[in-house]
Amino acid sequence: MSRSTRTLRKSLFIPLTARALVLFAWGALLGLPAVARAADANVPASDAETPAQRGYRFLLNKAYIPVAHDQEVFDNLWKVWEEPLRSKAAKATVEERRRMAFSRYGLTEAPDRPGPVAMQYVDAGHGGWSINCLSCHGGKVLGRAMPGLPNSHFAMQTFSDEVRLIKARQGKLTAIELAAAPFPMGNSNGTTNAVMFGVALGFLRDADLNVRVPDAAPEFVHHDMDAPPWWNVKKKTHLYIDGFAPKSHRSLMQFLLVPQNDAAKFREWEKDFKDLYAWIESLEPPKYPFAIDAALADKGRAIFENSCSSCHGTYGEKWTYPNKLVPIEEVGTDRVRLDSLTPAQRQGYEQSWFGQLDEKKVVADPGGYIAPPLDGIWASAPYLHNGSVPTLWHLFHSSERPTVWQRSEDGYDADKVGLEVTTMSELPPTAVESREKRRYFDTRLFGKSAQGHTFPDALDEAEKQAVIEYLKTL
Ligand code: HEC
Ligand code: HEC
Repeated sequence: MSRSTRTLRKSLFIPLTARALVLFAWGALLGLPAVARAADANVPASDAETPAQRGYRFLLNKAYIPVAHDQEVFDNLWKVWEEPLRSKAAKATVEERRRMAFSRYGLTEAPDRPGPVAMQYVDAGHGGWSINCLSCHGGKVLGRAMPGLPNSHFAMQTFSDEVRLIKARQGKLTAIELAAAPFPMGNSNGTTNAVMFGVALGFLRDADLNVRVPDAAPEFVHHDMDAPPWWNVKKKTHLYIDGFAPKSHRSLMQFLLVPQNDAAKFREWEKDFKDLYAWIESLEPPKYPFAIDAALADKGRAIFENSCSSCHGTYGEKWTYPNKLVPIEEVGTDRVRLDSLTPAQRQGYEQSWFGQLDEKKVVADPGGYIAPPLDGIWASAPYLHNGSVPTLWHLFHSSERPTVWQRSEDGYDADKVGLEVTTMSELPPTAVESREKRRYFDTRLFGKSAQGHTFPDALDEAEKQAVIEYLKTL
């Protein structure tokens, strides 16, 4: 998207969004039902749990966010699908339709929780679906669902648009939902505008997290990100791609800032998030499931330690990780995410309840991105913070990165190591509707550039193959 299109889009969105935020805040102050309370009772307890196990149980079973929709809405979503899918769904059984809906929206079964509700939501009772962290932080690779793996399938925008249509038909839509509708959720399936959700929700709070009614909205730089894998959190001192926030259990609670959760709820739920933090810190990366050429990988390790370890650390039992912040000019990847937060916003986080925990300071003006740990990197494609590069091979061959690509649902490219994709230089002419366009990753859109990180280009082809082989072992 060109700069001028973006400005136009912003000028359309900001007044609407500002109004939505104000309405949203008033709704909360006027005492909208705080649905999350009711669901606490549904959490099954078990004896002798470790804090980490308890955290995982909360994640799957405790509703912290008001219900998004009920099962009746979910079961009717197919009625607004495009043809020929809609006719196919009309003839399908309820169970087949549910599978079609899971596939369409990037949802999976929960490996450790039975029932009709996807892993990415909590069953809040009475058929209610309440969104949880796994909507973005629980995905699948090779068809296997994995909590903690980024959900690179999540079609958040399409899902919420279609839920809204069905709720409208069923007379279940609230004025607040309607007002909030213009806030963009994500322009490519598998990535979300999560950072701007944080900015919007944070703006509705004072430093102690009391809900306040703003009279104007901040400037939003809407852009999408690919969530990072949770198993790397344990190596980090600071969170997020710009490494601005000192790691703490409180930082995990930002997603709960919907105005229905008052300041007291944050104090009450803080202990749950200590447990969730313990679970996240206990996660291990998944092992590469195919054969590895050990001799080649060993060659690759030496090259990696020479060319990559200064930023990405070393691996194995005595691992090291430098938490290195690399200036944007040096890494050269898309800078929209970096510029989307102001130093004042980062400082505001530090001065709020989230930042009041310890001595560690926020990095108000990071100027670049943190080189992430590469553990389990085979599983967390696509690559770079915006999810713009589909395979490691493309990351290592910067001039061959596709302009537009589309993934298959569960295919894995074991040669290139990453997503099985179809690549193209333009969107196909059939991609006219927005929901169809979102099935493609278009690197020409704002914030979606696949440029930069050309460090591996310095290696020759044999060295690249060896390092890619080594990366499979991490
Ligand atoms: C709508 C999608 C979405 C939801 C829901 C979400 N996150 Fe995230 N999360 C992201 C994205 C995107 C990032 C990367 C942000 C960045 O780096 O700027 C992120 C980053 C993080 C990180 C930092 C990881 C790192 O390595 O730096 C943690 C920890 C985290 N999220 C925890 C949570 C928890 C806990 C919840 C639920 C209470 C949650 N998230 C809900 C999208 C989401
Ligand atoms: C000067 C520091 C630096 C060097 C040297 C470096 N990288 Fe990186 N690397 C980064 C940064 C910073 C990022 C994050 C960029 C982003 O997401 O925009 C990154 C991202 C990556 C990613 C994607 C991670 C993900 O989760 O999406 C991979 C894979 C990677 N680097 C591999 C390598 C390899 C292999 C080498 C050596 C040939 C290397 N890097 C050398 C700084 C470096």
